[in-house]
Amino acid sequence: MSKPLLCPPELFALDLAGKTYVVTGGNSGIGLITVGQLAKQGAHVVLACRRPAEGEREKAALVAAGVRGTVEVMELDLANLASVRAFASKFLADHTHLHGLVNNAGVMNTPAGKTKDGFETQLGTNHLGHFLLTELLLGVLKASAPARIVNLSSCFHDVAQGRKGAIQFDDLHFEQRKYDGWEAYAQSKLANVLHAKDLATRLEGTGVTAVSVHPGWVRTNLVKSFMPVWAQNTLLLPFLRMGGMIEPWEGTQSTLFALLSPTVSAHSGEYFSQLGMYRDKSANKGGWPLRSPNPNAHDDATATRLREVSRKLVGLEA
Ligand SMILES: NC(=O)c1ccc[n+]([C@@H]2O[C@H](COP(=O)([O-])OP(=O)(O)OC[C@H]3O[C@@H](n4cnc5c(N)ncnc54)[C@H](OP(=O)(O)O)[C@@H]3O)[C@@H](O)[C@H]2O)c1
Repeated sequence: MSKPLLCPPELFALDLAGKTYVVTGGNSGIGLITVGQLAKQGAHVVLACRRPAEGEREKAALVAAGVRGTVEVMELDLANLASVRAFASKFLADHTHLHGLVNNAGVMNTPAGKTKDGFETQLGTNHLGHFLLTELLLGVLKASAPARIVNLSSCFHDVAQGRKGAIQFDDLHFEQRKYDGWEAYAQSKLANVLHAKDLATRLEGTGVTAVSVHPGWVRTNLVKSFMPVWAQNTLLLPFLRMGGMIEPWEGTQSTLFALLSPTVSAHSGEYFSQLGMYRDKSANKGGWPLRSPNPNAHDDATATRLREVSRKLVGLEA
């Protein structure tokens, strides 16, 4: 089995004092490790989460561990556009800079459901909530350049448990076809890739770099909508490890590389992958960057159309 890709150690020696980052879903899994590492290197990190009490508990643990930077907990529910707008307003009122936005929060293979605004749960949370958040923070990102936007996608944007990743513009919210949780996840994760690709085009020359990443198959709480996390972490763990599951620190390497490596600004719009599962097996070892084996991830017209449709859905003018 291949070894996980690891950041060169010099990236973790960078002094991030004076830098500000926002990490969505910062209370758990890959997001929490990202918050901790950035704060360890001296940054001010906004831990954005839908359960602020949980965020405060994690912040207290990081402070107790002696991180050099500062952590600020802010409430953000990506499944509610009013919450996204309130978060952005408060952030912009309180901060003058943003050097990195990590669109990390996500849900996977959830039962059929809708967000507060009536979007299919996975597209609404994983893409549309982050889309609006990014639009509202683009000004401060540009004003803070060089800056980065990192979208947490997945190798499942290619194929998720047999379902090929595609954006079904005629039925984005599964109103005309039977709901399938994996198909909806694949659609939302392809949207994350296309969103970064489109941002890169729009942000050319601004000093803001946008990329998407696959973190690997990582032992986190992501499975909670369809299996007990305790079973993953105990009974099943030896088998899952043999199958390629990696630990949260390993699964955070792609995010940290995308945020911190000076090489990444030459690859805006591209996709960075830890170990993965792709229809083209030669991609399984990952790559920073990696050409996605999904042809739909390379279609400029789809990326533009997704932006236009997303703007309308989140209530921004076309
Ligand atoms: N783990 C993997 O194997 C894997 C593989 C490929 C891609 N990814 C991607 O990696 C990202 C991070 O996931 P993870 O593995 O670290 O899972 P995780 O531990 O479950 O973390 C997901 C985070 O997203 C938050 N979240 C979910 N819905 C939200 C909402 N409506 N508003 C705000 N926050 C919300 C969760 O909050 P709560 O704690 O309140 O639920 C949690 O903080 C996701 O985008 C996922 O798709 C993970």
